Amino acid sequence: MAYIGGVSATARACSNIALVKYWGKRDAALNLPAAGSLSLTLAGLVTETTVELSERLVADSLVLNGVSVDPRRTTQFLDLIRARAGITTRARVTSTNDFPTASGLASSASGYAALAVAGAAACGVELAPRELSLLARRGSGSAARSIFGGLVRMHAGDRDADAYAEPIAWPLVDRLRMVIAVVGGGVPKAHGSTSAMDHTAATSPYYDAWRHDVVPRDLVSATAALVALDLAALGEIAEANALAMHASAIAARPAVIYWQPPTIALLAEVRALRARGLVAWATIDAGPHVKVLTTVDDARRVADAVREVPGVTSVITSAPGPGAALI
Ligand code: PMV
Repeated sequence: MAYIGGVSATARACSNIALVKYWGKRDAALNLPAAGSLSLTLAGLVTETTVELSERLVADSLVLNGVSVDPRRTTQFLDLIRARAGITTRARVTSTNDFPTASGLASSASGYAALAVAGAAACGVELAPRELSLLARRGSGSAARSIFGGLVRMHAGDRDADAYAEPIAWPLVDRLRMVIAVVGGGVPKAHGSTSAMDHTAATSPYYDAWRHDVVPRDLVSATAALVALDLAALGEIAEANALAMHASAIAARPAVIYWQPPTIALLAEVRALRARGLVAWATIDAGPHVKVLTTVDDARRVADAVREVPGVTSVITSAPGPGAALI
């Protein structure tokens, strides 16, 4: 039967910040991660995406934060959904982030999670959460985790169908807060994560240690910390894991350096906060910003302290957020 078209769906997805990072792919075409990861979905970083199908369109289009941009990756992603639906109808995609885009604040995570949910609904494809996670992964590795709320574990898996994320129930999750110190106004990043992780894997003398030693060990100890309800242990692992990821990237040739002077100053400030007895653990992604894992009780003092660090242009405090959903 011919597809009628003109169907529209809107979804919201929160971004997520990894506590045990994903840095390296074992299959570029399928976007399979080299190792597992663990993340916290954040209510304060939200993407809202509308996918509108119409038989009248001759090509897909993408408007991101009000600006028309190259829809190539969106088309590739929607083609995965259209193939399942058995349709070829083109789409108008409108997406807005309520936070700086492509600056190391994980906009690809919330972006592809929202596109997966809205795209599947618009195309009339019903997918269970695990299938949505597998689909979102094809857009960006971290997006697989943003299908779910709270703490989320991503499996590296042995094959395509095993590389999905799933939520971890943790009694203390509502007490967690992430304080994000935005450095340099959230300008777009210098190295996209895909090319930077491929380059790290190909040239860094520390990549094998990262992939085969650091990540598996940190995933085991982070799981043990969760079971023991030991937030300090979890924070310690998260900070050390982020520093090890950056150490491997910095050792690539030529180096991949996301840090700016305020990044280092923030790391020192987080250590000073801990020395004063606050719960504060730093993590850094593919950008200069520092995200501080803390608690609902300490978030205000952590935010006030990092705001004073020269070079910090804004501070976002976020509670854990829900999984991606249609609105
Ligand atoms: O999902 P991508 O391709 O944008 O890569 C994410 C990479 C990091 O944010 C640095 C780490 C992570 O696990 O989110």
